[in-house]
Amino acid sequence: MATFNFNMLVFFAMVVASMAFHVSREPNEHVVGDTEGWKIPSYPEFYSDWASKRIFSMGDILYFNFLDDEHDVAEVSRDAYDDCNTTVVNVIISDGPGSIELARYGPRHYISTVHDDCKLNMKFFIYVPPSAL
Ligand SMILES: *[C@@H]1O[C@H](CO)[C@@H](O)[C@H](O)[C@H]1NC(C)=O
Repeated sequence: MATFNFNMLVFFAMVVASMAFHVSREPNEHVVGDTEGWKIPSYPEFYSDWASKRIFSMGDILYFNFLDDEHDVAEVSRDAYDDCNTTVVNVIISDGPGSIELARYGPRHYISTVHDDCKLNMKFFIYVPPSAL
């Protein structure tokens, strides 16, 4: 009887574990800046505040809400991000609105390269953790 109970326990533990494995969450769409969208922010920390309130996971979507080519979205290195150096940029969305899938883990630095957007704090970075499994 004791053995039976132990086996049952192991069985249930495995069932629960496998359920935990298979409860893969649906990808979230993150609207950058929420209702403000992607624009020159009203205060410098606006986008870092926005990002700090969210949890990003692989497979999630960043949605950048802006019109046409008045801004853009580029992924840049940490250094380029810090200096707003737009010499070498990888523009991902040149005409808005547009989306980016977070397909890889690691830090991500996004800026707008148009005019002085970046210096006016149209920038933020996030960290995408490796998927747990
Ligand atoms: C900007 O980035 C480019 C390419 O990485 C580099 O050659 C250049 O020196 C940088 N400019 C400044 C002002 O840091």
